[in-house]
Amino acid sequence: LTRFTCVFCDEPRPADPRNPFCPDCREPMLVESEGQRKSTRRSSNPLSRFKDFLPVSRVQTDLCLGEGNTPLLSLPNISKRHGLPRILIKNEMLNPSGSFKDRGTVVAVHTAREMGIQRIGTVSTGNMGVSTAAYGSRAGISTFVLVKQDTPREKLISAGIHGARMIQVQGDYGELARLSYSIGKRHGIYFMNSTDPFRIEGYKVIGFEIFSQLRPHTPSAVFAPVSAGGHLIGLMKAYMELQQQGFVSQLPHFVGVQAQGCSPVAEAFAAGRPRVASSRTCRTIAQSISNPSPPGGNIVLRMIRELGGTLLAVGDEEILAAQGLLAREEGLFCLPASATVLAGLLKWRVEGGLSSREPVVLVLTGSGQKNLQAVDPAGLSLHTARLSELDELISGLTA
Ligand SMILES: Cc1ncc(COP(=O)(O)O)c(C=O)c1O
Ligand SMILES: [Zn+2]
Repeated sequence: LTRFTCVFCDEPRPADPRNPFCPDCREPMLVESEGQRKSTRRSSNPLSRFKDFLPVSRVQTDLCLGEGNTPLLSLPNISKRHGLPRILIKNEMLNPSGSFKDRGTVVAVHTAREMGIQRIGTVSTGNMGVSTAAYGSRAGISTFVLVKQDTPREKLISAGIHGARMIQVQGDYGELARLSYSIGKRHGIYFMNSTDPFRIEGYKVIGFEIFSQLRPHTPSAVFAPVSAGGHLIGLMKAYMELQQQGFVSQLPHFVGVQAQGCSPVAEAFAAGRPRVASSRTCRTIAQSISNPSPPGGNIVLRMIRELGGTLLAVGDEEILAAQGLLAREEGLFCLPASATVLAGLLKWRVEGGLSSREPVVLVLTGSGQKNLQAVDPAGLSLHTARLSELDELISGLTA
């Protein structure tokens, strides 16, 4: 039997996805990790492989779109040029809708199906909306996507094409996220937002895959971008459960990276504050991780401190430089939000963070194709020529 529990008061509660907050602490609850013996299974479907660790009673393959089983890639060119130790990319851009969000959505949609819920929704800066729309259409469930005003056109189209009802909402994003739950209750919509407990369970599978791909090694560090906090909470929870079950003895050093223009969690960490204060202004090129009031912020702070991890913030220039490096030197075109992990690693190295010989894993959360507006065309090698001039132009370029 699945139960929710609150990180702050430790009180177990019924697992009702429409009531995912602790009534006492007002913090998001997580799915309780039960102590019974768990093992991994053989299957090509990652949900089936790690089913013992997940709150799904049966993996329903008709709800799956081929998410997961993403590769761990080395970065030979960047490593050589920057004198870095072994860095590995967990390429979550390869998920069906182009981001890691699919890992969480598929588990949350399993919950909706198991509970007979007819309507789902999400509040999103874009990627989660696209993912929820895709899996909602697959499950034949009507889907509502509430997006911010500044959501790029690519993401609106990518969600809308699946038939989701999209609403561009003006107003405070934090308030919108809170409002969605009461609206959801009134209209029978399960809002599977960023810190939805079942969504977070799905993110654990990224951690489980890293574990099994690197076995018997444990990465010295795992870097992930932080917005609402759900993704990093899932990665940490995965390794904590692996440790509880005796699969690993040591945990990686978890590093959450935010964009300086919107870094309420990293700021609270740096200032030694116990709680995250909402940011009044949020301005960054990393649009998909610009959340001024991250719902999972307090949980991230607490878990990162308990596990001895780190929270960093990187500036837009560092982010764009990292995005360019990955694209030009390694053939990987990711979102600015995702490039924060490489920018964070480079910054952390300067601060003396890199020490172990074990590999560092960077999670590349989403594809660059999703926000072409973030790329400055002036930086591209783009030329024009008449047919008659083409030969001469290419001579010049190959000289
Ligand atoms: C591309 C990308 N990376 C990272 C994140 C951060 O995930 P979370 O909001 O769970 O912290 C998001 C979503 O918000 C995202 O869209
Ligand atoms: Zn509580």
